[in-house]
Amino acid sequence: MSEEQTQADNRPRPTTDQFREFVAQDWAPRPPGASTADEVAAYTPARRDALSQRFPGDRLVVPAGGLKVRSNDTDYVFRPHSAFVHLTGWAADAEPDAVLVLEPREDAGHDPVLYFRPMAPREDEEFFADPRYGEYWVGVRPTLEDLAVRLGIETRHLSELDAHVGKDAGATTVRLVRDADRELTQRLDGVRVQEGADQESLAEADDALAAACSILRLTKDAWEVGQMQRAVDATKVGFEAVIADLPEAVRRGRGERWVEGVFGLHARHEGNGVGYDSICAAGDHANTLHWIKNTGELREGDLLLLDAGVEVDSLFTADVTRTLPVSGRFSDAQREIYDAVLAAQEAGIAAARPGNRFSDVHAAAIRVIAEHLHAWGLLPEGVDVEGTLDPSTGQYHRRWMVHGTSHHLGIDVHDCALATREEYMDAELVPGMVLTVEPGLYFKADDLKVPERFRGNGVRIEDDVVITEDGCRNLSADFPRTADDVEAWMARIQSR
Ligand code: GLY
Ligand code: MN
Ligand code: MN
Repeated sequence: MSEEQTQADNRPRPTTDQFREFVAQDWAPRPPGASTADEVAAYTPARRDALSQRFPGDRLVVPAGGLKVRSNDTDYVFRPHSAFVHLTGWAADAEPDAVLVLEPREDAGHDPVLYFRPMAPREDEEFFADPRYGEYWVGVRPTLEDLAVRLGIETRHLSELDAHVGKDAGATTVRLVRDADRELTQRLDGVRVQEGADQESLAEADDALAAACSILRLTKDAWEVGQMQRAVDATKVGFEAVIADLPEAVRRGRGERWVEGVFGLHARHEGNGVGYDSICAAGDHANTLHWIKNTGELREGDLLLLDAGVEVDSLFTADVTRTLPVSGRFSDAQREIYDAVLAAQEAGIAAARPGNRFSDVHAAAIRVIAEHLHAWGLLPEGVDVEGTLDPSTGQYHRRWMVHGTSHHLGIDVHDCALATREEYMDAELVPGMVLTVEPGLYFKADDLKVPERFRGNGVRIEDDVVITEDGCRNLSADFPRTADDVEAWMARIQSR
């Protein structure tokens, strides 16, 4: 706890020895700890091995990160760093300040050690008196033994961390995921500089580790794909609850917030929460790509673009968009736009297969978008489909679809973000990659270049696919996708 917080803490607490003794007495014994490993523990050794092979002889430090102050003495809900989650399998229930260390072995490879703040005895002052970490305030933590059984990793008390990570920091290259835990980064920088490293080279060494942790997640193992499917299935529960409640959202006013709340309720109920702030964008708001204010009305006749995903307890998230007619029926103009986006998405999904590059998915989808814009006469005079697709002299279509069609998806909604262009955009798709396919068309209400009938409508259709040996499997195939199917889906749910 920082000094300011201590000073600002003006609530008196009993401090007599008698009181402390009284509080520590007469508690039933703790229940037994875990006797079996978590399912994920069968998969994390291969992930750590892959990282180990990239950095032979180096000590690798991957922190979960600490609590972040929201205001005064109130913290945000803790979410561990994605690299830590991936390498340990410790996810929604991870303890703040935990750190995974991969210690290089003499022969080859690394030994993993997980440092964390374990369960404190009731006699410990912390139990009753520490509102940030104490069991009485925030709940019980696992013991060292318990967590070792669950994750299959040697565990040690957090108080031993600094002596370990700084040991021989001159002779051993120590690499740290820097953005996870600012305080640890400062401490370890101090130690490393003292041992002769210069700030620039250690930042370079660290960046290579962070990038490697990101790249490692480009392909998902079978367990991860299973988690992605769970996330998608949980997301469908949320979408269907929203559809069921759309009339209520219209009736109440400020319907976008109602939609956000209904989806958020199910995200919290089904999993850890939303994987990113839900975009609940009705009418012209759909044309603001990152509309997360969600302050608007839902009006009959408008479209609702709902881009939302449940993050399950393993912290894998879905990322799905459906564009729904608030009234349950698309107008002719809305359907025209919708069908164009759907055709683009079909082309993108067809291109999501091994042998193609990641960027081919976008290329396939955007060509269809460009064809429709050309057919509608929206491109500048003299510019045809090839003309607008020309990367240096064209790109006029981007006025109506400025974003990419795909991104990798996993523990982060925009997963693997530190991979280079060669490893990401230009890389060949291989089985186990999970990506979104999400073309859209956005016609702003004040866009005088588009026919009046299109204005004020934005459409995106987003599905999550996993690359297979001969193509891809749509994890969100259970979400109706054609205009007819969406209408039938809404009618079915709303007549229940
Ligand atoms: N929801 C963010 C995205 O679709 O990328
Ligand atoms: Mn999305
Ligand atoms: Mn997305």
